[in-house]
Order: sequence, then structure tokens, then C-alpha cells
Amino acid sequence: MSDDPHTQGNERPVTQPRPSLRRIRIVGTGRGVPEKVLTNDDLSKMVDTSDAWIRERTGIRTRHTVKRGEEAASDLAARAGTAACEAAGISPKEIDAVICSTISADMPLPSCAVYVQRKVGAAPNSAAFDLSAACGGFIYGLAVAEGLLRSGLYRHILLCGVEVLSGYVNWQDRNTCVLFGDGAGAAILRLCTDEEQEAGLGVQSVHLFADGTQAEALMIPGGGSLYPTSEQTLADGKHFIHMNGKVIFTNAVRNLASSCLTALSQHGLTPKDVDLVIAHQANLRIVEAVAQRLDLPMDKFFINIDRYGNTSSASVPIALDEAVRMGKAKPGDRLLFTALGAGLAWGATVVRL
Ligand SMILES: CC(C)(COP(=O)(O)OP(=O)(O)OC[C@H]1O[C@@H](n2cnc3c(N)ncnc32)[C@H](O)[C@@H]1OP(=O)(O)O)[C@@H](O)C(=O)NCCC(=O)NCCS
Repeated sequence: MSDDPHTQGNERPVTQPRPSLRRIRIVGTGRGVPEKVLTNDDLSKMVDTSDAWIRERTGIRTRHTVKRGEEAASDLAARAGTAACEAAGISPKEIDAVICSTISADMPLPSCAVYVQRKVGAAPNSAAFDLSAACGGFIYGLAVAEGLLRSGLYRHILLCGVEVLSGYVNWQDRNTCVLFGDGAGAAILRLCTDEEQEAGLGVQSVHLFADGTQAEALMIPGGGSLYPTSEQTLADGKHFIHMNGKVIFTNAVRNLASSCLTALSQHGLTPKDVDLVIAHQANLRIVEAVAQRLDLPMDKFFINIDRYGNTSSASVPIALDEAVRMGKAKPGDRLLFTALGAGLAWGATVVRL
């Protein structure tokens, strides 16, 4: 293991991406967030907590939640996907594949992606599937989309990060219920044109990591093949999110920072070369600790956790969409994405927008 605290956690040797390979580019973004807002004061009426505690320990003020039974993950993702198509200037019919990163699909079967395909009006013969890498999922999705686009068989991919974790949170557990929010973010991806490739634009290289030895740090133990739903699993609360917050916190700070340095060093870059960091919005204190490790001021980080809470795999694409629409991320800017979540699974990528 490396002695350098900044690179610990990413010891797997990094292979060089082949420079001749065509990069992929994000050509449109969108988001879909439920209207209903849950404030810290609302939560303090449900569990023993307070607005002051939640703001100080997490940076969260409000989060959005779906109206249960009326809205599902695919509704939010379809809204994000439609907006992303509009921003990209393409018809949904031009989407060749829909990838949804989610751990809270509308239902266990079929995938969320097939509903998104239908709801955005993508061609019925396009590919559609879900990807499970929790909060790191959007970055995992970028790597998968990169491979599919480079195969030459797909021209436009709709990548969504979407979660409705309000359905998996124990609303009587103050350790977890204050943290999460519902939402979706989306991006349209395609290969760079000759000019864009020449100009160095696009996703530079995607770096993915996982650590299954920490699998129990954040889990929904029930409802799968180990503990299929039963009266007993429900009585035991196995259908809820279970989390060891301290383990996640420590690993997040170390691994987010180290994966950022891995992604940057691959291209001879340092944190100072980055225009804006879009880091997973799990806890403001995590982002602040990552900023310290990267020796960057907080104004280099896009922050919206105060309004959305932790939207898991939707967090990076929602933040990206807001940054783009607010003019904080402009064409040509060098962005750094990083996210970590259950698994643990995490990653980072440098993107020239
Ligand atoms: C969950 C988290 C906010 C807790 O913050 P913390 O500063 O570590 O707080 P602790 O766990 O040390 O808890 C301190 C005390 O606050 C209490 N507490 C926890 N949640 C509380 C809440 N919502 N309101 C009031 N008190 C709360 C705890 O019960 C504990 O009380 P005790 O000392 O009497 O046992 C923090 O660990 C965290 O953000 N972890 C990462 C979580 C995450 O990002 N998960 C998703 C990953 S994608």
C-alpha cells in the first residue's frame, strides 16, 4: 500500500488510455426533481433532530421527495432525459441506448431504463438497462457509455442517474432519514467530432474503483436473494437503508481525493488546472475535507447539497446540469467529477466540457 495518504485506496496500477481512442462528449444535460420539499423543521417533527444539527453536521437544509404512489424513479429520469435531449438539440428518437444508474428503480423488475425509454419517447428498438453502483453510478455509467459509443454501434446514449431513496429510508431513524433526497440528472453522450477531438474536449478517462470489504457499511439487506421479502424481514427492518456513517465518511474523504488525483495525474494535471469540481453531494463536511486534501478553495466546488441532500447517483448529474445552466460550467471548461457510495464503489473523471 502507498505511504502517501492522498493516493491510498487507489493502488491498482492505472493503465494508460490509448490516445488514439475517440473521446466521448457530454452534449446536453437535464434534471428532474420532485416538487415536494421536506425541510429540516419538517423532519424535526418526525424524529429527535433539529435544523441546527442537520445544517452543522451535513450542510443540508431541504431535500425533495416524491409523492409516494404517484411518482417513481422513471418519471424523474424521463424529465431529466427530455431536458437533456432538448439541450443537446436531438430528438429522443435519436437515442440508441438508455442507461439508468439507480438502486431505487420503479420496481425490481423490469429495469427503470425501459420505462425511461418509453417515457422520453426513445426508439422502441434502442437498448435500455440499469446499472447498480449506488452513488458512484453516474461515473460508472460514463465508462460504460464510453465503451458502447466507441464500439460504433451507438451514436447517442442517454445516461441517467436517478434515485427515489425516500422509499428505502426508515423515517424513524434520525441517522439516515435526514440525509437523502429524491431526484434525477441526465446527460446525452456521443463521440467527439474530429474538431472536438483535436481541441481536446470530452471525457478524458474514467477511473473506477470498488472495495467489497466495506460492503456492509451501507446496505439495504432485505428484498434480495439472501433475504427475500417476508414478514420477518419487514419486522426486522431489513428493507430500510442501514449505514455506518463514520466508516462511509472516512472512506469517502480518502477515496474521493485519491481518485481525483489519479484521474488528474493520468493527464499530467494537478487540482489547480481544474475550473470546477463536481463532487458527490453526500455531506458538505466531506466535500470540505476533499477540498483540503486537494488544496483547493471551496469556490472551486459546485455545491447544492443544501437544497437537495444526498440524491445518490443523481447527485453528480443534477449538480452538472445546474452548473451548466447557471453558467458556472461553460463549454471548454475542465471539470473534475468524483463520487463514492455503497459498495464501496467510487470513481473520478476529468471532463473538458
Ligand atoms: C451521518 C453523519 C452525518 C453523522 O455525523 P457525525 O458527525 O459523524 O455524527 P455521529 O455519527 O458521530 O453522531 C453524533 C451524535 O449525533 C446523533 N445524531 C445522528 N443523527 C442525528 C440527527 N439527525 N439529529 C440529531 N442527532 C443526530 C447520534 O445519535 C450521535 O449521538 P450519540 O453521541 O448520543 O450516540 C456523518 O457520519 C456522515 O455524513 N457520514 C457519511 C454518510 C453518507 O455520506 N452516506 C451516504 C454515502 S453516499
